[in-house]
Amino acid sequence: MAVRLNHTIVAAHDHEASSKFLAEILGLPPPLLLGPFAIVTVGDTSLDYMNVKEYRGDDGEIVSQHYAFLVTEAEFDEIFARIRERHLPYWADPRLSQRDQINEWDGGRGIYFQDPNGHILEAITRPYGSGGTTAARPHPLLASTENRTPETRRHDQTVRDEGAHLATAERPDR
Ligand SMILES: [Fe+2]
Repeated sequence: MAVRLNHTIVAAHDHEASSKFLAEILGLPPPLLLGPFAIVTVGDTSLDYMNVKEYRGDDGEIVSQHYAFLVTEAEFDEIFARIRERHLPYWADPRLSQRDQINEWDGGRGIYFQDPNGHILEAITRPYGSGGTTAARPHPLLASTENRTPETRRHDQTVRDEGAHLATAERPDR
C-alpha cells in the first residue's frame, strides 16, 4: 500500500479565517469545520487549521512554517491575480527579499506570500529541480557544475550560494 500524507495541523490565531484565506487564495472548496479543526483539502492531503491556544496551550506561540503548493500555469495566473487584488505583499524568494517579483525557476513560475499567521506560503508550477540544470533559470538548490564553462561555473557558484540561503530560509526557525 502506498503511503500518503493524510493531514497536517496548521497553528492559527483564527482557524476559520486562516483556512478561508488559504482556500480562497488557492481557489479550493471552502474549509470543512470538524471539531477544533478547519480543514482545507489539498489534493490527497489536508491542512487542518487549529487555534494555537487549543493546539499548544494558553502560552502557545505560532512558529512560522512553510507550505508549498504545486499548481498549473492557469491556476498560478488565478492565484497571482488574487494576491494582487488583495494587495498582499509577495516575493520571488523565501528570504522575502525580492518584493513584488515572482521567480522563473525550473522553467516555471513561483511566488511566496504570507498567511494571516506569518506562515510562508509558496505556489510553484514545477517541483524543485525538475527543470534540471539546462533550464533557463535552474532552481538555485541545484548546484551542478558538470560540463560548464568557467563563465557558467561562476554563475553556478552564485546559484549555489543562493541555494544555501534558500535551504536556510525555508527552515522554520529562521
Ligand atoms: Fe519551498
